[in-house]
Amino acid sequence: MKIENSVALVTGANRGIGLAFARDLLARGARKVYVGARDPATVTQAGVQALRLDVNKPEDVAAAAALATDVTLVINNAGIAQPGGFLAADSEEIARRIFETNFFAVLRVSKAFAPILKANGGGALLNVLSVASWVNGGELAAYSASKSAAWSLTNALRTELSTQKTQVLGLHMAYVDTDLTRGFDVPKSSAEEIVARALDGLEAGLDEVLADELTQQVKRGMTAPRPSYLPQAA
Ligand SMILES: NC(=O)c1ccc[n+]([C@@H]2O[C@H](COP(=O)([O-])OP(=O)(O)OC[C@H]3O[C@@H](n4cnc5c(N)ncnc54)[C@H](OP(=O)(O)O)[C@@H]3O)[C@@H](O)[C@H]2O)c1
Repeated sequence: MKIENSVALVTGANRGIGLAFARDLLARGARKVYVGARDPATVTQAGVQALRLDVNKPEDVAAAAALATDVTLVINNAGIAQPGGFLAADSEEIARRIFETNFFAVLRVSKAFAPILKANGGGALLNVLSVASWVNGGELAAYSASKSAAWSLTNALRTELSTQKTQVLGLHMAYVDTDLTRGFDVPKSSAEEIVARALDGLEAGLDEVLADELTQQVKRGMTAPRPSYLPQAA
């Protein structure tokens, strides 16, 4: 889809990758950018429309859909992570909490805005996923599982929304330098470069963007004799 003159809604856009999306959308000529935030007072970016939107609250999502009826691009970006494996004592509780935001809220927002996208000509849905949707080494076990589920959701929505001509793009990437990865001493991309690749892909009509080399490598390795999602020899 063309971003110039589009009307975008980005969830969790007061900071991190969501904020980088809001800024790049403005730079590419979006007519309006709704910045969803749990607390609209945390939205400091000029030129956007702050919107109270805790994606875990059905009443917030319904109110956003009632107000932002001009939206042509929805970016499901809001997400949470917590390190730890499935054998930890509190893993079930953690998994439920993470799935609430990273899976059920993506479903909720997508359902609420699908009729709006349809009424506005189709538009696009961009879901922020992760390389962790394909590999799960147990360090971020529940997070990875939630992103696998969100990947599957994205694929189903692509088919279901094709009848109303809505483009559905899944964005996968490895580590990005934001608050979410502050404790990780690993190579990281900048939010700006990941977002630029995602929006280039959206404008090129792609279904999927693999925004860094590691993610491309993991995807290529899925069909290797020893696939990338299995533990690799040291
Ligand atoms: N950073 C990475 O390495 C990386 C890699 C792959 C994928 N991702 C994905 O990229 C997305 C953005 O991550 P990030 O790195 O930018 O994280 P971040 O810096 O921690 O920002 C997370 C954003 O999500 C918002 N959020 C969390 N729960 C929310 C809720 N219930 N309702 C509305 N907003 C909520 C936060 O709002 P508050 O300010 O109110 O907390 C914040 O704006 C996530 O989906 C993440 O899984 C990140």
